[in-house]
Amino acid sequence: MKTLLLASTLFVGLFGYLAAVPAPVTVPVPVPFPYHAFCRTMWLFATNCAEISTKVVQQILAFNPEYMLVSATPLSIKANHTSLDNPEGENITFTFSPTILTGGCRMTGLSSSLGFTSLLDGGLNYCNLYNLLSASGVTSEPGITEMTNEWSCLGYGLSTCKA
Ligand SMILES: *[C@@H]1O[C@H](CO)[C@@H](O)[C@H](O)[C@H]1NC(C)=O
Ligand SMILES: *[C@@H]1O[C@H](CO)[C@@H](O)[C@H](O)[C@H]1NC(C)=O
Repeated sequence: MKTLLLASTLFVGLFGYLAAVPAPVTVPVPVPFPYHAFCRTMWLFATNCAEISTKVVQQILAFNPEYMLVSATPLSIKANHTSLDNPEGENITFTFSPTILTGGCRMTGLSSSLGFTSLLDGGLNYCNLYNLLSASGVTSEPGITEMTNEWSCLGYGLSTCKA
């Protein structure tokens, strides 16, 4: 599998800059802004979308109740994921668009934490997507390309599910 780390250098640069800005002294108690951590990743397949989405749905059903299917149409799958570590859970959406010229499929996956957490989720949302796809077998499809980076999946670099 090919992974494109698109903007990691820029990302490091930005955080280096933010870290250098002094904390505002006029706020007596800094209140952390609540965020929903998320991960959005795209995959390209040489295989048609119907085959890919069928495998993903079957794997969601097989992983019940950790992953639960909310709805499935030919163009989108909605599900959620809960675990003992993260009982509030995460919403998961996959969307599919056929790539007409090649007869393949472009799939976008979004996992977002329902609880308010730090944006840095240690790869939780990335691993929600990756573990499901890996178990379903679609990550072994010929010609698969994954596009992930630290902008769209903060914490991706720390995730251990793919090691
Ligand atoms: C996950 O989806 C199932 C099925 O729609 C629903 O019953 C359950 O409450 C959802 N869980 C969360 C944490 O949203
Ligand atoms: C999570 O998914 C459920 C079912 O699709 C939806 O009703 C709910 O609004 C979603 N929550 C968030 C925060 O996106």
